[in-house]
Amino acid sequence: MAQIIDGKQIASELVAEVANGAQAIFSEYGIRPGLAVVLVGEDPASQVYVRNKVARAKEAGLNSIEHRLPADTDQATLNALVDELNADEAVHGILVQLPLPPQLNEEEIIARINPDKDVDGFHPLNVGALVVGNARLVPCTPQGCLIMLQKTLGDLSGKHAVVIGRSNIVGKPMSMLLLHANCTVSIVHSRTRNPEEVCRQADILVAAVGRTEMVDAGWIKEGATVIDVGINVTERDGKRKLLGDVNFADVEPVANAITPVPGGVGPMTIACLMNNTLIAARNQLS
Ligand code: GUN
Repeated sequence: MAQIIDGKQIASELVAEVANGAQAIFSEYGIRPGLAVVLVGEDPASQVYVRNKVARAKEAGLNSIEHRLPADTDQATLNALVDELNADEAVHGILVQLPLPPQLNEEEIIARINPDKDVDGFHPLNVGALVVGNARLVPCTPQGCLIMLQKTLGDLSGKHAVVIGRSNIVGKPMSMLLLHANCTVSIVHSRTRNPEEVCRQADILVAAVGRTEMVDAGWIKEGATVIDVGINVTERDGKRKLLGDVNFADVEPVANAITPVPGGVGPMTIACLMNNTLIAARNQLS
């Protein structure tokens, strides 16, 4: 039987630490770290994420400010909002929920956010800082995965980590974090010739592709640690269900440890966002 990695519990501990840090800032400066969350349009998954982020921010003692814009918002309007948030001293962290509607240029918006307030860690300056090993604000989902791996396995040195997926949000930064933790890192993607065979060599497997239950026991080396980043909304037995990129029932008997969906990576992402907001506030206030 595999150990089930309790992301919810680890996230609660991190949020409690953030709440202590936020309280310390309040005692010293009389202000609360401020997080602005921008949601454009009505994508249902994004609405759920944003609702969770705002609720957790309150729990962590942060001041969270939500900005909702209509789906037909133009670039100039969104740029103006980002400029306003960049200039607002009460806002220490800015998150623009992705994906944006097609008329908006994501790259332009990400680059417009003040890198000191970029709590997503998506700005090219923060991406570069991560690559050269000088990271300050690190993307939340991979950071959350790394914390769970270190809690489960301790030192990761020398382990073969395989990341499935090469997105800017998860796959690429995850690979960099694992490399800095001294793993041997492979990235498997849609053009990889023999993905199952590569994954079967993994001591650590991180699945971040967004394909429901793509990874089954045939992809897993006995005793591997499996992190499932997928959150796929699926209709099953007439009910809406959240399923991962990993077939949990199939993989669990083979693995050493595995994250569940829900209750694994999701809560950790949000806890890391709270932590990044605290780090950003500390940096801006000192
Ligand atoms: N959409 C899915 N994940 C994320 C994330 O971590 N940050 C933002 N801004 N949008 C997302």
